[in-house]
Amino acid sequence: MTANVLDTYEPNNDGFCTGSRWFNEVPPVYVITPTYPRAEQIPELTRLGQALKLVDNLVWIVVDDADSPTPAVVQYFDEHPICHVYLQARMPAKYRERPNSHQPRGVANRRKAMQWLRTHAKTGGVFYFADDDNTYDARIFDEIRQTKKVSMFPVGFVTKLGVSSPIVRDGKVMGFYDGWMANRKFPVDMAGFAVNVQFFLSKPNADMPFEPGREETKFLESLSITQDDIEVLANGATKILVWHTKTIRHKKAAKRMDARLNYHKSNIDSLRKQI
Ligand code: UGA
Ligand code: MN
Repeated sequence: MTANVLDTYEPNNDGFCTGSRWFNEVPPVYVITPTYPRAEQIPELTRLGQALKLVDNLVWIVVDDADSPTPAVVQYFDEHPICHVYLQARMPAKYRERPNSHQPRGVANRRKAMQWLRTHAKTGGVFYFADDDNTYDARIFDEIRQTKKVSMFPVGFVTKLGVSSPIVRDGKVMGFYDGWMANRKFPVDMAGFAVNVQFFLSKPNADMPFEPGREETKFLESLSITQDDIEVLANGATKILVWHTKTIRHKKAAKRMDARLNYHKSNIDSLRKQI
């Protein structure tokens, strides 16, 4: 295998790029991350980005729920060379009015990334929806790389059962273990499956609807797969390599509470802009 190791991040005309380690023979892994502007955004991207930097031939498609690039994210990518594409896609206004738990979070973002794949990802590879607030063992990105159609694997901390996974017996998927079945054909978590790009491109109508709670199953159904098509990863789905760890929302930073805290013209002004 010949290594084409690039020291610097070099976008080409398509906004595409090669990252620190790129081997010509290795299929790319496209990691699609919805994100949105809030105090936790940069910490989340920092944590996820550090896992992704360990992986060869990886393209990180970050889609921000914003009308225009978020300056802090642009700065993050300036400071952290990684093969990436930075897009924006806002949740449609009619969904934003709903209470948070009824919003189709990350859907506009993922749809935008899939549009990008349809026009740019011609050389194959695999894609994976990696929300910004999960925890990833970097080995999962190499595991998914050989996916032929759709691969699946367990996700920790999902519902009251504590884990969501295909049920595998003698190497065959027999059903799904998930605390929220809700009549879903594929009761799995967003972080529990990966899709081959060519297979996806062969399904021109495959897409994710704005239906909170049913995005995963509806998307997988739109790929017209059967249970027998599912490729089981993570050692026969016996090992958890990704966790649905949520991050607590931090309260808006308080203004100076103690008049003795005199930070006029100090470093504190700069810190306060970051939280
Ligand atoms: C999970 C799924 O990822 C969502 O697609 C689904 O809507 C949700 O479950 C559900 O079924 O209720 P969850 O962990 O509950 O999501 O929600 P978040 O982590 O808050 O959001 C999912 C992704 O969307 C994250 O990557 C987040 O950064 C992004 N997001 C969230 C936005 O882009 N915009 C928002 O307003 C909120
Ligand atoms: Mn989440």
